[in-house]
Amino acid sequence: MFFSRMILAVPMFSVSVLAVPRGGNFARSRPDNHTLNRQRADAVKEAFTFSWNGYHKYAFPHDELHPISNSFSDSRNAWGASAVDAFSTAIVMQIPDIVDTILNYIPTINFDETADQISLFETTIRYLGGMLSGYDLLKGPLANLASNTTALEAVLAQAKCLGDNLAFAFDTPTGIPSNNLYFNPPSTDGSTTNGLATVGTLVMEWTRLSDLTGNKTYAELSQKGESYLLAPKPATSEPWPGLVGTNIDINTGLFQDAFGGWVGGDDSFYEYLIKMYVYDTTRFSSYKDRWILAADSSIAHLATHPSTRPDLTFLSIFDGQELIHESEHLACFDGGSFILGGLTLKEQKYVDFGLALVNGCHDTYNSTLTGIGPEIFRWVTDSTAANDTNNPGPSADQQAFYEKAGFYITNGNYILRPEVIESFYYAYRATGDQMYRDWAWDAFVAINSTARVGSGFAELQDVNAPAGGGFNDFQDSFWFAEVLKYSYLIHAPDNVFQVEHNGVNQFVFNTEAHPFKVVGPAI
Ligand SMILES: *[C@@H]1O[C@H](CO)[C@@H](O)[C@H](O)[C@H]1NC(C)=O
Ligand SMILES: *[C@@H]1O[C@H](CO)[C@@H](O)[C@H](O)[C@H]1NC(C)=O
Ligand SMILES: *[C@@H]1O[C@H](CO)[C@@H](O)[C@H](O)[C@H]1NC(C)=O
Ligand SMILES: *[C@@H]1O[C@H](CO)[C@@H](O)[C@H](O)[C@H]1NC(C)=O
Ligand SMILES: *[C@@H]1O[C@H](CO)[C@@H](O)[C@H](O)[C@H]1NC(C)=O
Ligand SMILES: *[C@@H]1O[C@H](CO)[C@@H](O)[C@H](O)[C@H]1NC(C)=O
Repeated sequence: MFFSRMILAVPMFSVSVLAVPRGGNFARSRPDNHTLNRQRADAVKEAFTFSWNGYHKYAFPHDELHPISNSFSDSRNAWGASAVDAFSTAIVMQIPDIVDTILNYIPTINFDETADQISLFETTIRYLGGMLSGYDLLKGPLANLASNTTALEAVLAQAKCLGDNLAFAFDTPTGIPSNNLYFNPPSTDGSTTNGLATVGTLVMEWTRLSDLTGNKTYAELSQKGESYLLAPKPATSEPWPGLVGTNIDINTGLFQDAFGGWVGGDDSFYEYLIKMYVYDTTRFSSYKDRWILAADSSIAHLATHPSTRPDLTFLSIFDGQELIHESEHLACFDGGSFILGGLTLKEQKYVDFGLALVNGCHDTYNSTLTGIGPEIFRWVTDSTAANDTNNPGPSADQQAFYEKAGFYITNGNYILRPEVIESFYYAYRATGDQMYRDWAWDAFVAINSTARVGSGFAELQDVNAPAGGGFNDFQDSFWFAEVLKYSYLIHAPDNVFQVEHNGVNQFVFNTEAHPFKVVGPAI
């Protein structure tokens, strides 16, 4: 989920005491009421169909729709990113004609050619992820929607073709891949470093590709790259057990810094540690051990409470052992990750902590004028020194907002990101508490009433200004893959691809919200 057109290279820093989560009555009662809310599910489907129709009319098969000017762009190598990213959402929403359109399109993509630089990470999570997930769903629980079995096998062949074309990225002295690639001839941009999230968010897709094709090479390549992240060197790059720096030298395997957190650039590395264990408890037990270290260290060292709202819990970022009290929309996947970890490991403390994080992220939504949360925000704590230059207080014009909300906004954009609704989804699936459905619904209604414009949905410039402060004419592909999928699934009935409250899952979502069939064995 977490990454984006810009991976934020934000610097990042506390002390903390766990707040009692407001929604945390899960230990006492778990209603497990995952019944269909038809009216809400249908309303989300309507938004999906509307966006798809706009994209199909004005942009398909280009990468993105510009919904205001009814034009398009190709920021993802012109392979039809929105179509591939919409695939698994159209399948779980069970919209046959859109599924057919995408199913018959994917075999026609020419993954051998692109004039532009290719991001290994973005291509993996969106294109490989979208194709492998569509394949898993249409071979499995939604096989009734697979109208063309020849095309479906061609989807897997396309995933294999893309994997083969990208595999040279791992051909470095250490096996840590280069992220920025070119085709014809295969080459890189010459970077000598790669990042924690961009290296650490390949392993699910490349392992699934091996498991589906029988060619072990993809899994081996991605796991070799990941091995440097699981045993970080030098020791100074791991300021607390499991929490690591951001930039890694691809020639030596050494981390270059000790700067990090659950934010963009690092985020989905932590996400995949526990998800790989969900995917296969046998092969990825050591990944789970690293997630536990990171989770425990985060609870102990990164959890902080704003000076004006001690009831809220956020995770600070770190530079060595110094904390920076900054977070962002991207980081709001963290609540969902703790909840999934807690359910999987049967450890209530992680579920409770996750619910506290979900609660904080909810406040970043319901505190603004639009009801949508900002891209980046900050806070200070009771122990922040007045001369702490890493942690300035709010400017005069944000003081009143900070008093009330417990955070102040340093970037008010909303670019159709999913993470807050994603974590509401995990909170609801874990607890059955209708409050989380209501939160997701409120967020969806706010986005639908503020960002819907022209032929689709556009980015907002300022979530705390009337009407969102104006638009940017761009609808990223993750709108289809993630926001609309989680907004829908939270109101949809139980199904094998939904997250299970008992921690035994048949599917696991990649970071772009594409569900992959797990190998098991069931835990
Ligand atoms: C179950 O869900 C339905 C639909 O959302 C809701 O009306 C009902 O109150 C819920 N029941 C419980 C026990 O939460
Ligand atoms: C089924 O898919 C194959 C492979 O993509 C394609 O050649 C064929 O035209 C499709 N059939 C139909 C009826 O769309
Ligand atoms: C397996 O995948 C690797 C990496 O793309 C490729 O080099 C190799 O030829 C493949 N092996 C087979 C048998 O297809
Ligand atoms: C936001 O939601 C929380 C939890 O439901 C609630 O306690 C709080 O009062 C709400 N804040 C605003 C500004 O509505
Ligand atoms: C900040 O203030 C404290 C005393 O209040 C002092 O010990 C410390 O050196 C100061 N730090 C900086 C960076 O000025
Ligand atoms: C979403 O917006 C459209 C267009 O304004 C409207 O027709 C629809 O009712 C809205 N959906 C919800 C759930 O508010």
